[in-house]
Amino acid sequence: MRRPLIAGNWKLNKTIKESRQLSMQLIDELSNITDRDIVIAPVFTALSTVSEIIGSSPIQLAAQNCYPTTSGAFTGEVSPLFLQDAGCRFVIIGHSERRQLLHETNAFINQKLIAVIHAELTPILCIGETLQQREEGQMLETLTRQIEEGLAGLTADQMATVVIAYEPIWAIGTGKTASSEQAQEAHAFIRELLQELFNPTVAGQTRILYGGSVKPENIDNLMAQKDIDGALVGGASLKAEDFIRIVKFL
Ligand code: 13P
Repeated sequence: MRRPLIAGNWKLNKTIKESRQLSMQLIDELSNITDRDIVIAPVFTALSTVSEIIGSSPIQLAAQNCYPTTSGAFTGEVSPLFLQDAGCRFVIIGHSERRQLLHETNAFINQKLIAVIHAELTPILCIGETLQQREEGQMLETLTRQIEEGLAGLTADQMATVVIAYEPIWAIGTGKTASSEQAQEAHAFIRELLQELFNPTVAGQTRILYGGSVKPENIDNLMAQKDIDGALVGGASLKAEDFIRIVKFL
């Protein structure tokens, strides 16, 4: 019912030349895949090049961030319009690295999300708790606030395009994956929340990805969980062989 989605977040890695090489390797192995969405998110400067390479292959392009205002005097920023112009279909919003390093708030993330929807791109809204929040019993409260404030003002129709990525911060880049049970528990909670905030149809249709040390060794177990609809992959998406195996989860 929910089409699986595997996305590679390349973060601040890969020059244009390296991005070209990696994209070509992925196309070689993934061009026959039709039953799942495959998305890669290179750095801004490599977007156009990668867009030309992936062309009409099943691989789709994402940006890692955007600014909510379409155009004007916003030095150094890039809006959804320009991302669409560069070939993007998806935009990652509210990644924990941006929340932590650049102090992005839920309200600002909400503005970005709405701008992405208006540009007819698909937002991937990242949420997740810190280790301290989890240990102090504040995980559910944190996720609730991120979802309520991040999705504020959206209609049920607009929600149809949104993808959510649950990325527990303690699992990102640490090699410490949430167990499949921990991930499933959080995903089920998020889906329940969507039912309360919107309706059962929205809750049933929204794709919820897991992110945080996803690897070829753990993808199959994660994807076997009822409420896990895909993965947002960091480190392992930088190696063609690993990302290909993750996309080809069993
Ligand atoms: P890692 O897969 O490197 O833990 O990163 C996860 C992530 O932040 C994806 O957005």
